[in-house]
Amino acid sequence: MNQPTPVREHVMAAFARRFGGEPALLARAPGRVNLIGEHTDYNDGFVLPMGIDRAAWLAVRPRSDGRVRIYAHDLDEEAAFDVNALDRTQRGWVAYIQGTLWALREAGIPLVGWDGVLASDVPRGAGLSSSAAVELVVARAAVALAGAPWDAPRMARVAQRAENEWVGMACGIMDQMASACARRDHALLLDCRSLDITYVPLPRDVAAVVLDTGTRRGLVDSAYNERRAQCEAAAAFFGVPALRDVDEATFNARAHELDETTRRRARHVITENARTLAAAEALRAGDYTRMGALMVASHASLRDDFEVSTPALDAMVACALDAPGCYGARMTGAGFGGCAVALVAAEHVDAFCEQVLACYTARMPHTPQVYVCHAEDGAAIAT
Ligand code: GLA
Repeated sequence: MNQPTPVREHVMAAFARRFGGEPALLARAPGRVNLIGEHTDYNDGFVLPMGIDRAAWLAVRPRSDGRVRIYAHDLDEEAAFDVNALDRTQRGWVAYIQGTLWALREAGIPLVGWDGVLASDVPRGAGLSSSAAVELVVARAAVALAGAPWDAPRMARVAQRAENEWVGMACGIMDQMASACARRDHALLLDCRSLDITYVPLPRDVAAVVLDTGTRRGLVDSAYNERRAQCEAAAAFFGVPALRDVDEATFNARAHELDETTRRRARHVITENARTLAAAEALRAGDYTRMGALMVASHASLRDDFEVSTPALDAMVACALDAPGCYGARMTGAGFGGCAVALVAAEHVDAFCEQVLACYTARMPHTPQVYVCHAEDGAAIAT
């Protein structure tokens, strides 16, 4: 079902066609799916994502004249610029490339020019961090060309800075940390304040199945920024730096003093942090039933308290919960469209996918997709 395309081969063939010969190196950085811990990262909280076996790939060969020529294979577009004259007015995909190079230079990484081919099989706008994958693959290749050591969490910060300060999207740190630091066959419990990671094994007897609603998020930036502001207002009310610092007892004691909307936003974040820690424990213990129940509670909280779900996401989650082998399901990523994720017993995956697709197609006018994902390593030079 939706086998990943051989992106690596596409990139190598396109490099030979465009630039002739072989690249000096090939880098890859995965997208991610977040199992639980949604809208908690910018509240200094906890998230539990995994890298997926869909990735951005970049083949590069250095040039001596400081020019960057990059061909985006999926879009069939080429851009060229001087690495010493990055241009903030450029929009679209080039902004992610230039922004990452800018943030690398700000971090003291010397830059050279290069010819490169970029391609990705991370679906765009689906909540699977296609942009973080592009940022991290550019960083991985540029750091290798500079001969500098690769410090994955530091480079996640660099990529986040590119997105915040160059692209202008006020995202948290989850996506970049997941793409940089993911580990094969593991999810990562990330403390978004300290950036401490605890890797939690994801045994092969369960699968993370990504369920794409076929809807793409609209108005997500403004709604995202509004949620961030509401969370900051709630933290200020409790007199703490971030909602991470408020436990459920403290919240319950003073919740009635908050207005209805702020109360609901804060309740989501505070309960989601607790659910995420509990989910990591459940996964470690092999208690998929408990993990699934926490995912279901997360979805309800995102739908009712944080108000970032949609009828399509709700329908997909309902279909998943009815299908064979499903321990739990929830929307994943920022919301307002995109994907849900389900935890499914490996032996039931085929029947599960078949039933979910039929159920969703009967209920919704959109075309769904299913990606059965394996947990993959973070950004690396491909050998
Ligand atoms: C987007 C952002 C992340 C995170 C999620 C919601 O993916 O890029 O930083 O806030 O939304 O959990």
